[in-house]
This record gives sequence, C-alpha cells and structure tokens, in this order.
Amino acid sequence: MSKQSYRIAVIGGDGTGPECTAEAVKVLKVAAKRFNFKLDLTDFDFGGARYLRTHEVIPDSAVDELRKFDSILLGAIGHPDVKPGILEKGILLRLRFDLDQYINLRPVKLYPGVETPLRNKGPADIDYVVVRENTGDLYTGAGGFSMKGTPHEVAIQTSVYSYHQVARALRYAFEYTRARGRKKTLALCGKTNVLTFVYDLWERVFHEMGAKEFPDIKREYYHVDATCMWMVKNPEWFDVIVTGNMFGDIITDLGAITQGGMGIAAGGNINPEGVSMFEPIGGSAPKYTGQGVINPLAAVCAGMMMLDTLGQKQAAQTIEQAVMDVTAHKLKSLAAGKMGYSTSQVGDLVAERVAG
Ligand code: IPM
Ligand code: MN
Repeated sequence: MSKQSYRIAVIGGDGTGPECTAEAVKVLKVAAKRFNFKLDLTDFDFGGARYLRTHEVIPDSAVDELRKFDSILLGAIGHPDVKPGILEKGILLRLRFDLDQYINLRPVKLYPGVETPLRNKGPADIDYVVVRENTGDLYTGAGGFSMKGTPHEVAIQTSVYSYHQVARALRYAFEYTRARGRKKTLALCGKTNVLTFVYDLWERVFHEMGAKEFPDIKREYYHVDATCMWMVKNPEWFDVIVTGNMFGDIITDLGAITQGGMGIAAGGNINPEGVSMFEPIGGSAPKYTGQGVINPLAAVCAGMMMLDTLGQKQAAQTIEQAVMDVTAHKLKSLAAGKMGYSTSQVGDLVAERVAG
C-alpha cells in the first residue's frame, strides 16, 4: 500500500510569517518521516510584498488553485507599507469566505512552564476550545454609507446570520464537544439581551438541536461580556464555547493572552467538507523580521492542528507533547528575543523531540 500523502499549500506571508512557517514545516517534515506519511508542499508568495510589486492582492485563479490542496498552512498577513484592511480582506477573509471555512477553531490551552497573566491559574485550569463561526456576522460586509463626508453622514454595518450558517456551526460545536470527551459541556456565548434577533436565532437553534441530537451534551449560555469576566476569573468552567464571528474574534484574543499570548496561540479555519487553513493567531510582527528572535511555536501549533484535522492524530499529539516539553523545560519566555534560543533553535528543539 502506498503511504498516505497530503498536498499542502504554504503561504508564509509577511514580516516574520515566513521564518515562523519555516520552523513549522521543519517539524511537519520530521513528523511525516516518523509517522510514515508524505507531505507535498507548494509555496505561494501571497502577502504585502507581492501586492506592492504587482498591485494585485491575489490572482483570481488563486482560490481555485488552492481548492486542489488537502490543506493550507498560513504564516501571517500584514505589511507596514500597505493600508490596514487591504491584505486582511483580500487574502485572509477572502480565503475564509471563498473556501467556506465556516469554523474558526481556537484552542485556549496553557502549556506547562508558560506564564499566564491570570493569578493562581495553571495548565489544569486553562484548557478549553472556542468554536468561532467564521463566515457571517459583521464580517459579511453588509452595510454602507450615506451622505458620506457631510455632517449628516450615516454608517451602517449589519450583523448577518442565516439559519444554515448558525446550524452548521452549532452542529460542528456539539460534535466537537462530544468527540473531545471532557466535561461534555457546550457554552453558547451571545448577547440575547440586546442582539434580540441574531442571538435569538442562535439560542433557539442551540437548544432545539442540543435537545434533539445531542442530549449527552450539557448546554450553558453566557452573555459575551460575562464570558470575558469568567474567562479571566474562572477559566476552568469552560470546555467548549461556541459563538458568532465578531464575539469570537474578540474573546479569542482574550483567551490567547491567558495561554501565553501570540507566541503560542494558533487556530484553524475549517471547512469540514473542503480545504481548511491553519494559522498562528498573531500578526506578522514586521519589526522582528529576519532577526531570528520571533517565537515560532504558534506556527508549529498551527501545523499540529493541521495534522490533527487531516487525521494524523498520533503525529499531532506527538508534536503537542514536544511543544509542551520545550515550554516546560527549555524556553525562558515565549516573548520575542527572550526565549533563550533563536527562532530556528526553537524549531530544532521541537523537531528533535518529534523525531523520537
Ligand atoms: C483574526 C484576525 C482577523 C479577524 C483580521 C486580521 C481580519 O483578527 O484572525 O482573528 O478579524 O478575523
Ligand atoms: Mn482577531
């Protein structure tokens, strides 16, 4: 039997994205060798530099080209010479939408040895997952201006959700909670007291679907403002949180800082029936470009999530164990320039451990 093989598109992106992605690829290659699968990697130069050169964010053929891959590994998008919004919308959001990556999966897990700003909390307390809906809400671009540039200007930006979008995100979240097999508790994070249309829909579908299809999963509801409080005060309450796109964006940055920040936090833009894309949650940190001081672990963790989603569970677990060993016993800090190792040395530390 020929061994399992995966076609992976690699978009290193801007700033420190490519150097972090290189370390993730290093670790993935070692994992492939050890666990006997094959990776066929293709690089794409999408990002700020290409845009400044060609005046085109991504070619129109790019999305169809990317559809041919099993998965996408993304570094970071964001260039100091490009106006904010152009690359984010033109690359990141475009791919999320066009590839219908309707789930943004963001684990919030504190690894051993990692400092958290939450006093008296440790790895046993901070270990939950946020399922952020990734295609609707304020992100659809519905809205506009009228009387722009006058004192009577009006700007409208609307939260948009269809039953279909809500139901598929909730079903994924229930199934994920069941498969995770921990507290079997799914918390809906909303704002039913104010957003009485959008989160009314979410809440109705949540309880209907939960009662009918997932009676083994306990359901909880929190308003988004309260969610932020409890994520700080009692993170151990959470198992899986499901929420809309905008709240999900906000609460996952809060979650990320409680797990040690942008040096470690990773996420997956998932289309369970299509092509998914994995990325560090943080930005391109352009000021550190090329210095070899940036922490590549978030990119390594993105690669780990990619393997998990592709079905290489053992390889993914081995990478996570290796990362935990490195945070627990090697790194002085997760911050750029303070790790006690260079970017590529951190990649080597993980790779050695994955090699076994
Ligand atoms: C994220 C980012 C993006 C988002 C930006 C860059 C468009 O903040 O992945 O969380 O808002 O989704
Ligand atoms: Mn964000």
